[in-house]
Amino acid sequence: MLAARHERLAHDGVAADRLASRIAEHAEIGATPDGGVCRLALSDADRDGRDRLVAWMHELGLVVQVDRIGNIFGTRAGTEPGAAPVMTGSHLDTVATGGRYDGVYGVMAALEAVRRLDELGLVTRRPIVVAAFSNEEGVRYQPDMMGSLVHAGGLALQDALDTVGIDGTRLGDELARIGYAGDLAVGAIRPHAFVELHIEQGPVLEAEGLAIGAVADLQGISWQEITVEGQSNHAGTTPMRLRRDAGAAAAEIAVFVRELALRAGEPQVATVGRLQLHPDLINVIPARATLSVDLRHTDEARLQQAEAELASFLERLAAERGLTVSSRRLARFEPVVFDERLVRTIEAAAAARGYGVRRMTSGAGHDAQMLARVCPAAMIFVPSAGGLSHNPREHTPAEQLAQGANVLLDVLRRLAG
Ligand code: GLV
Ligand code: MN
Ligand code: MN
Repeated sequence: MLAARHERLAHDGVAADRLASRIAEHAEIGATPDGGVCRLALSDADRDGRDRLVAWMHELGLVVQVDRIGNIFGTRAGTEPGAAPVMTGSHLDTVATGGRYDGVYGVMAALEAVRRLDELGLVTRRPIVVAAFSNEEGVRYQPDMMGSLVHAGGLALQDALDTVGIDGTRLGDELARIGYAGDLAVGAIRPHAFVELHIEQGPVLEAEGLAIGAVADLQGISWQEITVEGQSNHAGTTPMRLRRDAGAAAAEIAVFVRELALRAGEPQVATVGRLQLHPDLINVIPARATLSVDLRHTDEARLQQAEAELASFLERLAAERGLTVSSRRLARFEPVVFDERLVRTIEAAAAARGYGVRRMTSGAGHDAQMLARVCPAAMIFVPSAGGLSHNPREHTPAEQLAQGANVLLDVLRRLAG
């Protein structure tokens, strides 16, 4: 009995090799020499990645729609007229030093789940929508999760289109340039539920030897850009006591946020990921420093406390060093608790296939946190080798990718009826 059941379940799963080859083929778009991927949002590589997805959606007979912020939706029809669809998917854009799985995996696995349903001749009651959201990474244009945020009504379309990127480009212009300024109204597709499959991007599942994470919540994210202004002067002739050194102040800020996080203890994290000095020359005291600070915590009050501590440190620093320090908010999202029933559905689906599963918190931001504003949402994680992500060496073995896709398939079947 049990053996027959296992055989049937295995038979019903997505094809691991086809999923792996889809991901590998897609990773050729924007491939970097170190084995990673660079597909910054709305770049030529992003366009090529989108084109490939749209072609694959058409091959599967999905009805493709693009909304005005460039989110791509491929719909597989259901049997019940007017029923709200079950939505799944993730994003195709990457950080500049990205890997092959962050985002893309969730979209490609969704395609393979749809193909499996087709092969099994299964038609669901509700439509199933495969989504690829614009600019999830927020590297080129802030905030991150922008396409899903606009979809969920958390950011006005025009404000998103008017965003100026770190390269000085306007998002709306780049979206039109790559041919993805669609005409579907943003938020037009209201899902019955949203489930996102993603690599963990952290070390927990691998360390515990588990195949699946049922993501129950996601930590809050605070991004700011700090600008320090001092005065440039000669590095050899200016005594230390007379300097207004913006570069040294930036270094102090970086040390301060690290110590702040260590003092607060886990799960507080803090990162200075970007630092630019001007004029950036060996024998000139920096006149200006621009740096990013990324603060995250699962508890909103603790996150606010970290922000307040940083703000008062910046005030002190400015006064003590004779500098001007200003700060600009780039992104701010409160922690999100996912839908309990959906999390349980994911746990049950994993257990039914005999996969080891645990509940977990997402340290990374995801489109699902935005969709959670408009419908029940949750996420499925699979292990990340060495816990590495936002790194060309990001890796998950094909078998584990398929296990996650199988859970997605089962959850979609359950939700879509
Ligand atoms: C987005 O992917 C983030 O977590 O930074
Ligand atoms: Mn991602
Ligand atoms: Mn990412």
